[in-house]
Amino acid sequence: MQDRHKSVFITGAGSGIGRAAALRFNAEGYGVCLFDLNEEAIGNVAAELNPAFGSICVAGSVTDAGQLTDAIAATKNQFGTVDCVVTSAGIVKVEPAIDADPENFRRTMEINVVGSWLAAQAAGRVMIEQKHGSIVMIGSVYGAGGAPQRTAYCASKGAVHSLVQSLAVEWGPLGVRVNAVAPTGVRTPMVQDLIDKGIYNLKGVQARAPLGRLAEPEEVAAACFFLAGEESRFTTGHVLPVDGGWLANGYTTS
Ligand SMILES: NC(=O)c1ccc[n+]([C@@H]2O[C@H](COP(=O)([O-])OP(=O)(O)OC[C@H]3O[C@@H](n4cnc5c(N)ncnc54)[C@H](O)[C@@H]3O)[C@@H](O)[C@H]2O)c1
Repeated sequence: MQDRHKSVFITGAGSGIGRAAALRFNAEGYGVCLFDLNEEAIGNVAAELNPAFGSICVAGSVTDAGQLTDAIAATKNQFGTVDCVVTSAGIVKVEPAIDADPENFRRTMEINVVGSWLAAQAAGRVMIEQKHGSIVMIGSVYGAGGAPQRTAYCASKGAVHSLVQSLAVEWGPLGVRVNAVAPTGVRTPMVQDLIDKGIYNLKGVQARAPLGRLAEPEEVAAACFFLAGEESRFTTGHVLPVDGGWLANGYTTS
């Protein structure tokens, strides 16, 4: 448990990895700002948290710079500092490239890339003034390689990995670290929705990972907590796979 009461700002906190991150940081004694489009979902997550460390809910979109700036200001007002950020808001669209609606491509880039960048920018302004802070973005193994019917998603996650490097280089001298985690399939509502629609190759994803299963959201949250906190204080500009060995595996599975 930390000595000083620290805070974390989490986008996409209403579901999946963002929710698991909120629970983990709260369990470690952090004040949590839950930011998500889905107001009811963040209210439900807040109700799961230990009230001793405080939480606030802000409903908004990561595509709106003003809403993010206001939410970061609310985090600072409530907790005194903005110590960590986890950018977990994201979407995926599975569709053949040849027929894909360009609007879906733009929307994916807008939420996954611009949204992560805007959240980092809003938090970075406060963190640079504080001369400390740590930002963790959720990338993907699909940011390190291609996948069929996911051109926008793969491009967006590749861009997130690149963003992390540029921000880390620019803000390192100012006291702000920026890293990412790159999960393979994680058992969240996003993946369950794809499974339910019959457009997720669950067997193939599990077969490629030598550990033979999907990740649990808590396992990704644990990596976020490590990268956000003091234990990783000399790590920046890094993308940490949480993938059961997916990226290491060059062997063809049938
Ligand atoms: N689940 C996986 O297998 C997996 C694997 C690798 C990476 N990721 C990434 O992890 C992140 C979280 O995924 P998840 O599986 O927890 O998804 P999820 O769908 O369970 O949760 C995503 C949350 O983001 C919120 N959100 C969506 N658009 C938003 C917006 N414009 N503004 C604010 N909030 C918004 C949603 O309301 C939802 O609560 C995403 O960036 C995703 O691409 C997921």
